[in-house]
Amino acid sequence: MYHKKIEEMINIVLFGAPGCGKGTQAHKLVEKYNLNHVSTGDVIRGEINRQTELGLSMKDYIARGELAPDSLVIDIIADYVQSHRESNGNIFDGFPRTTPQAEAFDKILDKSAMSVDIMLELVVPEEELVQRILLRGKDSGRADDADEGVIRNRIKVYHEQTAVVADYYRAQGKYVKIDGVGTIDEIFGRLCEQIDRL
Ligand code: AP5
Ligand code: MG
Repeated sequence: MYHKKIEEMINIVLFGAPGCGKGTQAHKLVEKYNLNHVSTGDVIRGEINRQTELGLSMKDYIARGELAPDSLVIDIIADYVQSHRESNGNIFDGFPRTTPQAEAFDKILDKSAMSVDIMLELVVPEEELVQRILLRGKDSGRADDADEGVIRNRIKVYHEQTAVVADYYRAQGKYVKIDGVGTIDEIFGRLCEQIDRL
């Protein structure tokens, strides 16, 4: 398979509130553009399921719908970037979620001669987010999907700590807002339109 040089790898940040469709769209983008995908939430849940020391240290934050500590999540991404240099690029789903994470991320990518190309935010009204997550929560097994109070806390944390990260990428001219309401294919089309412009 042909692999691009690292400087040519495309790095996409998929951004947006809990339940906005980051994971759903990431899986489709991976197929179309031959990208790797990392969801910090998935990595953390994997660590919790395997009961590693790292997982156990993050378990309570996740269950409450709060963010895990920056330093732990930044280490996860640094390891990921080190070990994924063999594709057309990467989709970062659910990372960065705070401004310190965004700043650390730039440094991590810079060490590998890479940078973020675009941040795509999926915008969905709050009530639809809650309904989507409650529906998924019936069989997702995710501790943070089962309880409406926890779901609403995740959305609150998003507004208080994460939404501001859009400004960081806006200042770099890399932020694009996407309407996240519609069919999965419609939304996928909107994302592809932006990526194809890069
Ligand atoms: P994470 O796993 O990232 O969860 P999240 O951001 O809360 O988002 P979700 O994964 O629930 O939703 P999604 O946007 O991926 O949507 P999905 O495609 O699944 O994080 C979990 C926790 O880990 C955080 O709360 C935090 O504690 C911790 N964490 C993670 N990253 C961190 C970081 N960087 N720093 C600190 N802590 C971190 O879709 C949702 C549902 O809607 C699905 O059922 C789907 O089928 C459905 N759906 C999708 N698209 C549509 C559509 N168009 N119409 C109708 N339904 C749809
Ligand atoms: Mg997800």
